[in-house]
Amino acid sequence: MSSRLKSFDAFPKIDSQHQVHSQRGGYSSLLTYFCILLLTWMELGHYFGGMVDHQFHVDEKVNSNLVINLDLLINMPCRYIHTNVRDFTDDRFLANELLKFEGFPEFYVPNGYKMNQDTNHVPTPELDEIMGEGISAKFRDQINQFNSENAPACHVYGSIPVNKVNGDFHITAKGYGYSDFTRQSIPMGDLNFTHVINELSFGTFYPYIDNPLDATGQSTENNLQAYQYYINVVPTVYKKLGVEIDTNQFAVSLQRKQYSWENKGVPGIFFKYEFDPISLVVEDKRLTFVQFLIRLATIYGGIIILGKSVYKLTEQFILRVYGKKAAMKGVEKKGGILDKEVEKE
Ligand SMILES: *[C@@H]1O[C@H](CO)[C@@H](O)[C@H](O)[C@H]1NC(C)=O
Repeated sequence: MSSRLKSFDAFPKIDSQHQVHSQRGGYSSLLTYFCILLLTWMELGHYFGGMVDHQFHVDEKVNSNLVINLDLLINMPCRYIHTNVRDFTDDRFLANELLKFEGFPEFYVPNGYKMNQDTNHVPTPELDEIMGEGISAKFRDQINQFNSENAPACHVYGSIPVNKVNGDFHITAKGYGYSDFTRQSIPMGDLNFTHVINELSFGTFYPYIDNPLDATGQSTENNLQAYQYYINVVPTVYKKLGVEIDTNQFAVSLQRKQYSWENKGVPGIFFKYEFDPISLVVEDKRLTFVQFLIRLATIYGGIIILGKSVYKLTEQFILRVYGKKAAMKGVEKKGGILDKEVEKE
């Protein structure tokens, strides 16, 4: 039976007495085993810890609704301020009715806020970070007791529902808008669009997620100042173990314009937002056990083949560069015919 089985053996064997063992061969095997161990360790880590996969998808939720969460402080009395949202579909929202306006006794820049910066880069948050910070909350809608129309600064906040299409959100001064520029009741010298942004985000409000404009501000010496924020929103979905967190990251660039009595323009704070038709999905992917085994097998096969080729190449390299003597160094003597020929040379 066993002799029959032997004749089935597909791999021709060399009798062990003719096999030659070399030191270099031993080292290269050791190295191969080490690589296998290392990769097994890493793969095990991936298998139990999961892998984070970034993928772009065409955003299917185009045209659905979402909200803009907004919280800013402007250095002007509330009664001067006019807000407006206008979008691509030409829907006009009277943001004035949706937002809360609260008089502040004083304009101030909170500690740690970055003033007058051009951009504030916030990297894409890591999956685990989001899972920890992705606690949604109701955006504040409580009004403070102190609420004077004539207070020198105005706290504007609230959530504005908008269509998920490109649009503009404007904060201008009454009498200094596009249509009513001549009917000014407010003295020009009282205009001051110096502001700080506590929060600006799109979609569900996650208080712990940093957005590029949070805790930033701009100050100006000019009464007729315009700030144009160009915002590019990328819908981002984080998925891990069945939990899905729908967020919207954005990139922003700022343009400042100064107008004067001769060079007229509409002063104000403008947020021009655009939604990317592509959404980013950051997902924690896990393999099944069978997939994991197949992956390991493929990796082992690859390493063994690679190890052999590298070994052969090094052997040839040594033979070419240092000659036969060096190549045979560290090889066991078997006393065969070939070995003798080598020694003669
Ligand atoms: C607006 O307010 C800021 C902060 O108080 C001040 O530094 C700036 O000079 C003011 N600008 C104008 C045009 O009054």
